[in-house]
Amino acid sequence: MSETIAKKTIFSGIQPTGTFTLGNYIGAIRNWGPLQDEYNCIYSIVDMHAITVRQEPAKLRQNTLEAYALLLACGIDPKRSTAFIQSHNPNHAELSWILSCSTQFGELSRMTQFKVKSEKHSDDVNAGLFTYPVLMAADILAYNADLVPIGADQKQHLELARNIAGRFNQKYGEFFTLPEPYIPKTGARVMSLQDPTKKMSKSDENPNACIFILDDKDTIIRKFKRAVTDSEAEVCYREGKDGINNLMSIYSAVTGKSFDEITAEFAGKGYGDFKIAVGEAVADHLEPVRTGFAKLIEDKAYLKECYTAGAEAAFKMTRKTLSKVYRKVGFVDAR
Ligand code: AMP
Ligand code: TRP
Repeated sequence: MSETIAKKTIFSGIQPTGTFTLGNYIGAIRNWGPLQDEYNCIYSIVDMHAITVRQEPAKLRQNTLEAYALLLACGIDPKRSTAFIQSHNPNHAELSWILSCSTQFGELSRMTQFKVKSEKHSDDVNAGLFTYPVLMAADILAYNADLVPIGADQKQHLELARNIAGRFNQKYGEFFTLPEPYIPKTGARVMSLQDPTKKMSKSDENPNACIFILDDKDTIIRKFKRAVTDSEAEVCYREGKDGINNLMSIYSAVTGKSFDEITAEFAGKGYGDFKIAVGEAVADHLEPVRTGFAKLIEDKAYLKECYTAGAEAAFKMTRKTLSKVYRKVGFVDAR
């Protein structure tokens, strides 16, 4: 058996909805690069998921290219991984239909993200928003992925993907691998800087709540300086100190320091010093990503070369799965 076949497969996706946040970065993307040596990695910009909420077409196109460039800037090497744009591989949508016939209406109705998004976009509660997790299951199962690196908010969708796979296997015989979530220990949930009980999100109306990974150093430090904390003056991780806990988690994620080390470092110092230190550490950590992105986004031909090759590879891997699935469910061979 060749080495590549023996490697486990990883799949993850990210939506091209504006530039990524520090939450996307720490909770998801930055963990993807280091996995490339050990695993067979497949990463996708999921533009088909993005249209479940209204998008301006020209903006979506731009966001998708930027997201792809950002993925490479964050350390995804298109030579070692398969990196592509979801709509370039039609097998995802085809498999999604088959899987939707092994998904229950009731289980989709229970999805927290559906409830939240249908309240937020109450004028457009479309069927795609409802079946979103089935397409996500298809993304993963099409590659028979073993592991799926995600932030904590996607855990419910992954459990659903496992249930769908299990149900298909029960109906048609063992076929799909049940994927496992891969959630980072620190930073799986980066919280808003303005309301640390809510997750950091790009759609937050308060511009100070969210760090974008392309923000410049001054902006990053300014946002951290304004971060909401508490009325004590002790940098330590404790229940009830949501703001400080969040800043400590972020600082720990970018410096590798433990909570005890951070507490010792800032003993006797005020929150002001701590906030500036977090801002500087984050800005320095993101500097190579910013520089890499600026170069890549200028080179559209290179990007195209990479995502075209990625889509071709992705198509090949998944066509086999789909043919087998079609046989299993009883469709007549096309050729
Ligand atoms: P999305 O922006 O919703 O497409 O999310 C892309 C990835 O980033 C998913 O794996 C999410 O779980 C992760 N993610 C998004 N927001 C956060 C956050 N505030 N903290 C940690 N991970 C996050
Ligand atoms: N739903 C994920 C999110 O919003 C994005 C996504 C789509 C995904 N397909 C996926 C993540 C497959 C992991 C695996 O973050």
